[in-house]
Amino acid sequence: MRTLLSFLAAATIAACNVPVEPAAEGTASAATVGPTIAFRADGTVDHRGAIPVDVPVVVTYDPLRLAACGLLGSTAGLGARLELFFKTATRHGSVKLGDRWAVDQGRDVAKVAIGPFSAAEAGTLELWFRATNPTGCEAFDSQGGANYDFQLGAPVPSAYDGVAPLIEAACSDCHGASFGTLDAVRTRRSAMISAISSGRMPKNNPGWKDTPAGKAVLDFLRTSPEL
Ligand code: HEC
Repeated sequence: MRTLLSFLAAATIAACNVPVEPAAEGTASAATVGPTIAFRADGTVDHRGAIPVDVPVVVTYDPLRLAACGLLGSTAGLGARLELFFKTATRHGSVKLGDRWAVDQGRDVAKVAIGPFSAAEAGTLELWFRATNPTGCEAFDSQGGANYDFQLGAPVPSAYDGVAPLIEAACSDCHGASFGTLDAVRTRRSAMISAISSGRMPKNNPGWKDTPAGKAVLDFLRTSPEL
């Protein structure tokens, strides 16, 4: 199969504050490459699981999704170009995916690796695509401007993970593991709210409800959608 672009294309810098480091040729191996996000011809996006940091992410793109600006077809215009744009909390850049796809010569799915992203960029990874040509044509595959969003980095910690150590520290000496799981807390939620907010619990510590830990636990018990 004809290769339309090198696996790790040199990154070009888009208009943004934080420059994108060009990816080095040949640094990605099967062992170090992260998941693949596939943008398919039928308009769907196939991706499973969280996107880890510290490994390159492979993006495949079927140019049939963006038949504009002479990007596709036997009459494909000279100079048509397809680019992938990406944005994280701290970086914003673009990578060239290919110049044009002549359908009659056989059509390849574009493939490029971006990243690796750092832990500091954990959060939302936005992707979108742009076709252009020198006549000024510009067309986007960007979900109508909303961009394609992915979760980058560790899954967002649950609110329960945040308060579990506080409950453990304040209650387990006397109650053991009675409040030691989310399910247990869910079952005893109203009793816990009443015991803590009235100052009965933790026993002999009526001021605990006004401490940062006590407030955090009460807030969790009263408002968390996880309960
Ligand atoms: C120093 C020991 C001690 C600690 C610490 C403690 N408890 Fe208790 N808890 C008790 C005892 C003893 C009882 C039995 C009722 C009583 O003596 O007031 C009890 C009863 C309860 C009850 C049922 C009765 C009621 O008053 O609603 C709840 C709910 C409860 N505790 C929640 C908690 C929570 C939540 C924490 C941590 C924020 C906690 N307790 C910390 C000793 C403790």
